[in-house]
Parts: sequence; structure tokens; C-alpha cells
Amino acid sequence: MSTVLSGVRPTGDMHLGNYLGAFKSWVTDQESYDSYYCIVDLHALAEDFEPKELRERIVNTAIVLLSVGLDPEKCTLFIQSSVPEHAQLTWFLSCITGFGELNRMTQFKDKSKNNESTKVGLFTYPVLMAADILLYQADRVPVGEDQKQHLELTRDLAIRFNSRFGATFKVPEPAIPTVGARIMDLQDPSAKMSKSTKDSSGVIYVLDTPSTVEKKIKRAVTDSESEVYYDPAKKPGVSNLLELLGASTGEDPKQLGEKYTNYGSLKKDCAEAVNSLLAPVKDRANALYDDRGAVKEILRLGAQKAHEKASSTFALATSRMGISIDEFT
Ligand code: TYM
Repeated sequence: MSTVLSGVRPTGDMHLGNYLGAFKSWVTDQESYDSYYCIVDLHALAEDFEPKELRERIVNTAIVLLSVGLDPEKCTLFIQSSVPEHAQLTWFLSCITGFGELNRMTQFKDKSKNNESTKVGLFTYPVLMAADILLYQADRVPVGEDQKQHLELTRDLAIRFNSRFGATFKVPEPAIPTVGARIMDLQDPSAKMSKSTKDSSGVIYVLDTPSTVEKKIKRAVTDSESEVYYDPAKKPGVSNLLELLGASTGEDPKQLGEKYTNYGSLKKDCAEAVNSLLAPVKDRANALYDDRGAVKEILRLGAQKAHEKASSTFALATSRMGISIDEFT
């Protein structure tokens, strides 16, 4: 059976971009792959955080993931820091990663721009992400488009390690959805929908109420034309609504564009589609908020299973690098 691994940062409330760009595939993939899904709390430490708030966000992230349909009987859901090999393999991989390679990462460039207090952890963030993936010998990594460059680095590191030290890691393939891979902010369709955006009016959170979803979509920025068609470069706002509608219903955004004659009816249908997608998620989340003990148990068992797989890959990497004490003579 092939293996899937993916991760999410517990740095804010989960939004529709996370759901449509990543979680939807995670739910499908758990049916046919050996699937590992990881709440990457170590990555969250690379930016400003409050310990109490972070703890709450880790639990909330787990609740959203279980509510969108991850089933602990079918996949392994765990917290990254519960498996120490993630941090350990990061060091091994750091020692084969070029400074220049990390300097070229666009996410690092964006996040460190105009920031005097950028941390080393933010710089080496993609190496930790490579460790997450390679430890599980993942064949497939379902992510949104913004993670493509990090996946390319992961592949390069796997190939480099294998050719320097001998076959150790599988070289993973990114799995980026054809629709919904880059959901944009409703108020600024030139920027992707993001957990860290200060103004939440352009971000639809998975647990927003139906009336909030409706309001946000109704107020979404469009353009001064009146014709509906899909062209992200010329009509970013309208195309984003078509993308949201298409990703929520499984239809093609381009074809949907031909169906509508005005922005009002597009927005109305888009809000309805998003709300019917999110309704069952909210019901499940409410039930799980009352049963946090069960969530904790799922994460504890997930960590045990993840550790089994990660520790065997880590032992192999240790041996390949010539530092396994068992092999000293
Ligand atoms: P994160 O936490 O920013 O996002 C989680 C997933 O959601 C996708 N995503 C989006 N997709 C479409 N439109 C958007 N506006 C949008 N915003 C976010 C992301 O592409 C991602 O798939 N570095 C990763 C977390 C990570 C990881 C990993 C992922 C750590 N280790 C190993 C895969 C494998 C991140 O920051 O995702």
C-alpha cells in the first residue's frame, strides 16, 4: 500500500483554503493509502506565539480535521512534536542543505520581508517539512499550490541523501488539486486566503456560521464589469468565486462561468454551496468540543503509530550516515 503524509500548522483558525486545497484530499486519500496527517506544532514555534493559545489551537485543529472527515480508524492523526524523530532528522537534513537553497524559498522571503526579528527556525522551516515527509517514506503529499516549492526541495534532499549515503528515502510526489489549489482572499483576490490575515472579512473559516459565510461572500470584491467568466488574471475576484463554487460542488469553474449572467446569482449560489459543504462539519465539531478527552486519546494513539514508522526510517538514516552505535566495532 502506498503512503500519504501531509501537515497543517496550528497557527490560526482553519479556513476554506485549507479545506479545499488540502483537507478534502486527505479525507479521500485515507480510503486507499496508508495515511499520516500531522499537526505541525514545531513549525508554529518559528513565528510569534503564546503557549496557552498554541495549546488551544492544536486541539482546535485536531477537532476541525476530525470534523471534516478524518477517521482515526483509517488514518494516523498526530502532533508533530510527539514524535522526536522529526526534529532529529531535521538536523541530518540540515547538514546536506545549502544555505542558498533555503534563501531562495519564496515563503521565507515573504515572511521575513521588513521583519528585523526573523528567526533561524523560519529559515530552516522547509528542512523540518522535508523531515516530516521523508520519515514516513511518503509516496504522495496532498497540499495546496503554495507548498510546491517546499516539495521540490524535499525531493532534492531525498535524491541527494540517497545518492550520497545509499538508498534510504522514497522520493515523494506532490498531489495538488486541479480545482481549489489556491483560494484567494475575498477582500483582496491578489493574496491567498490565509490564517494569519489580520482582517478576517476576506477569510471564510471552516467553523463560520452560515450567516457570516453569506455576508462575507456577498461583500466579496469583484470588478466594475458585469460579465461572469473565468480568467484569474483579468478577473481575480469573480474567478475566485467560481473556484470556490467549483471546488465545493465538484464542478469545473470555467464551465460554471458560462452559466451565470450576473454577480448576484453567482454569489448566492456560491454561499449556498459553501454552507452546505460546511454544515455537517460544524455539527461534528460541536460534538467533539464536548468530548476533548476522546480527541486527546486519538492524538495519543496516533503518535504511537507514527512513532513506529518514523523510528525505523530514522534508524536507517542514522546507520547510513555512519553514526549508529550498533554498528561500532
Ligand atoms: P499550512 O498550515 O499553511 O496549510 C495547510 C494546507 O492548506 C493549504 N492551503 C491552501 N490551499 C489552497 N488555498 C489556500 N489559500 C491555502 N492556504 C493553505 C496548504 O497548501 C497546505 O497544504 N508548511 C505547511 C505545513 C507542513 C506540511 C508538512 C505540509 C508542514 N510539514 C509536510 C505537507 C507535508 C504549511 O504551512 O501549511
